[in-house]
Amino acid sequence: MSVKESPQSKQMTAIRIRSANENDIPGIHMVISKGFWGLQRRGYSKKAIEAAIPSRSEIQQRLLLPKTVVFVAANEDQIIGTVTGSEKFEHFHVQSFAVDPRFQGHRVGYSLMTELEKSARQFNCKKLFVQTAWAMFEAIKLYLKLDFELEGYHPRHFFGEVLLSFGKILKPSKNGNRV
Ligand SMILES: CC(C)(COP(=O)(O)OP(=O)(O)OC[C@H]1O[C@@H](n2cnc3c(N)ncnc32)[C@H](O)[C@@H]1OP(=O)(O)O)[C@@H](O)C(=O)NCCC(=O)NCCS
Repeated sequence: MSVKESPQSKQMTAIRIRSANENDIPGIHMVISKGFWGLQRRGYSKKAIEAAIPSRSEIQQRLLLPKTVVFVAANEDQIIGTVTGSEKFEHFHVQSFAVDPRFQGHRVGYSLMTELEKSARQFNCKKLFVQTAWAMFEAIKLYLKLDFELEGYHPRHFFGEVLLSFGKILKPSKNGNRV
């Protein structure tokens, strides 16, 4: 992966995106908690943050679900980012996307989303779909960079928060694979 040059980069030479396993559950829970609690200072509500953080047992269940992938970004033994994707009716739903605030802005999120797109294509999905909120402006910036389009708003939808739906159509290529 490409990592922006900074003092933090020196600590990130061993970074790897891989599928999660049972041993990663505490690290995944930690990184989602850190990522989402970081949004509280922007006014994102406590209830919405609590609801967005899956419990350890929910994460464990996701690891067992069919047509669901959980990726982690690991810096040696430390989990520094994660994302989950699950197939539903030929679209791939992106969930629990977070990077440890100490490692944000180094394209870890970009690398996780790129892997997730590959999985969506392997499941022959026609579309990626994610819901986000105004407070998550790094995520919005990243989705737009990855050619997602804003598809709609859901006012007062999630504990009073406005949710934004972003989608990315995965077009079939000449050889039939989705690109
Ligand atoms: C969204 C998130 C996962 C992105 O992870 P990341 O590793 O920082 O993402 P990237 O480094 O690939 O960066 C995406 C863009 O946002 C910018 N960015 C990311 N974090 C930033 C920060 N803390 N400050 C300033 N810019 C930041 C990056 O610079 C990059 O833009 P650029 O390539 O033009 O510079 C991370 O910001 C996060 O965990 N946010 C809190 C939880 C959240 O909002 N999840 C999304 C739920 S839908």
